Amino acid sequence: MIDTITLKKPFDAHVHLRRGAMLRAVTPITAEKFSRAIVMPNTDPPIETVEQAAEYKKEILAAIPRGDASRFEPLMTLYLTKNLTPAEIEKAAGSGVYGVKYYPWGATTNSQWGYQNILEAKDVLKKMEGVGLPLLLHGEVHVDERNEEVDPYRGEQTFIKGILPELLTSYPKLKVSLEHASSAEAVDFIEKNGKEGRLVATITVHHLLYDRGDAEPRPLLRVKPLIKERSNRDKIRALVKKGLPFVSAGSDSAPHPESKKFATTAAFGIFSAPVAVELYTQVFDELGCLDKLENFLSVNGPRFFGLEPSSETITLVKKDWQVTEPVVTDEGVKVWPIYHKDMGLGNETIHWQIKK
Ligand code: NCD
Ligand code: ZN
Repeated sequence: MIDTITLKKPFDAHVHLRRGAMLRAVTPITAEKFSRAIVMPNTDPPIETVEQAAEYKKEILAAIPRGDASRFEPLMTLYLTKNLTPAEIEKAAGSGVYGVKYYPWGATTNSQWGYQNILEAKDVLKKMEGVGLPLLLHGEVHVDERNEEVDPYRGEQTFIKGILPELLTSYPKLKVSLEHASSAEAVDFIEKNGKEGRLVATITVHHLLYDRGDAEPRPLLRVKPLIKERSNRDKIRALVKKGLPFVSAGSDSAPHPESKKFATTAAFGIFSAPVAVELYTQVFDELGCLDKLENFLSVNGPRFFGLEPSSETITLVKKDWQVTEPVVTDEGVKVWPIYHKDMGLGNETIHWQIKK
């Protein structure tokens, strides 16, 4: 039995750090556990210019405790809003911007600025293809071409079938990352078409852990894309077990204040930063593929963005622990992570720990 594992320090290919007090509360957690992270731009207001991205990056760096400040690098992104121009894309390439994020209008938290259909953004996509700036896809159809709402359990499948092939054919050199793959259809598509440096996918820890039965009644597990029936989870597990170079970890850690998570309609977004590295390790251990963990967590992600993996390492040991507290912001707001002992499935225990 393996009970200790040392890895290059992980790379989070998808994280939400927010702004203000929430940012100050959650950023130190990500900065401690990851060497770098691709930071999502769906703040309110959204990040849509290089200048805003630079200012946002400063706010993030200012929130990191001194010891970690030189060791963590936030990698910034722009939101594909209708204001984003080819000229801004031109400027972004080589200016510390690592990707452009597409949100389907209306599908998730702060997606009201997105296009209904990504294919509408022709000039911007052409320019991104030209300068080699990756497109990060929230690959779901929320409202279809007849303006009808798609079953939210089928939004990703509709995107994979109806939009992604056309996108890839229209922009053959565009670098594309399918974020938070959550369905059997997404897994099949990626297995068949994935290619290092061209078409990759990120996988969250919550889509590896839970199924629809766990998630549907629990506000803490309310997230887009929705957590689906167990057969999908099992396909995602089988995918990571293959150790493909175009599949990597992207936690999609997305903190919300308690008041929004426990509202009548809970906000979409799972806060996983405090437990993600440990839980990815746990799942890989369960699947008997710890030998595939380092590439998934620490190597494949940076390679897609043209970066070298971290030269630092972390060590995890097999030792049980529980999350007993929420994170609390400096304004006194509670933020509940998944796998919390009382707020999760009930007495959830994590079997791996990062060695201090
Ligand atoms: C994210 C958030 O809260 O910003 N929520 C989510 O459910 N994943 C937005 C997103 O990535 O969809
Ligand atoms: Zn996200």
